[in-house]
Amino acid sequence: MTTLMGLQNKPKLSKEAFDQLRTLIYAKCGISFSDAKKYLLESRLAKRIEARGLKTFEDYIYFLNYDAQKESEIVFLINTIVTNETSFYRDPVQLKGFDQGVVPKLVEEKKKANNKRMKVWSAASSTGEEPYTLAMMLLELGLGNEGWSIEVTGSDISDNVLRSAKAATYEQYAIRNATPQQLARFFDQKDKMYTVKQDVQRLVRYKKINLMNSFETRLIKDNDVIFCRNVLIYFDDASKKKAVANLYDSLAKGGYLFIGFSESLHDITRLFKPVRFCGTMVYQKI
Ligand SMILES: C[S@@+](CC[C@H](N)C(=O)[O-])C[C@H]1O[C@@H](n2cnc3c(N)ncnc32)[C@H](O)[C@@H]1O
Repeated sequence: MTTLMGLQNKPKLSKEAFDQLRTLIYAKCGISFSDAKKYLLESRLAKRIEARGLKTFEDYIYFLNYDAQKESEIVFLINTIVTNETSFYRDPVQLKGFDQGVVPKLVEEKKKANNKRMKVWSAASSTGEEPYTLAMMLLELGLGNEGWSIEVTGSDISDNVLRSAKAATYEQYAIRNATPQQLARFFDQKDKMYTVKQDVQRLVRYKKINLMNSFETRLIKDNDVIFCRNVLIYFDDASKKKAVANLYDSLAKGGYLFIGFSESLHDITRLFKPVRFCGTMVYQKI
């Protein structure tokens, strides 16, 4: 009976309110919603509206536009739709393109130019597994012992995931792709939790960056490699173009961009030269 009452009182998302919500989300983070997502948004936000002490979607839209906490609420909204799914050593075939292809090539070129700095950016890094993995791979390649300056930046639009990333402690599921050697070398284990060791943590810094915002992306300049995986998939072509143009500006000349396996830059840009490393497509800034 209580459940039935609860269901009956659930706020309803009108077509107008849905349009306002998706316009707001699109303007903020470039994520576009088809009509098919209306039900998803309605069911996921019903509880949130209640938790905020509000009654209707119209109240909620007012909150999102005018409340002092509107910024963090929009990020919450984004997190209800975008998954934060990630893991250490995710998509090993692509990572092989990084540690066996791109990095050795950069190392060779940089040594000739007497430049021993390696700058890598994991854009949309979620809870930090990707930037830590990239730092670990650079250490595995020996760059830490050879006098290189390693700078890895992790960034995301969401404060919540950045907080977890900085805490650097993970459950077993997150490290499922790491080998026993990598676990021993890069993690301190306590009970069933794994904390990234200090020598890796100190190579990685975090920043809150919205890929749609060129003022923010411009803060991360001259990267040799950018990973932007599994986020473009949520953008429409206009947002992809904006994000990719911002990433292009943040790459050093000759630098490389990795995008997700299921993502493509087809019809998005011709600024990059597609290059294959160890079976993985990478985009080079020319
Ligand atoms: C699926 S995770 C990708 C994590 C990691 N790159 C990977 O492939 O394992 C997608 C992340 O994109 C972030 N995101 C969504 N829109 C964004 C935007 N406009 N700017 C920056 N990050 C965004 C989300 O907060 C989420 O953490």
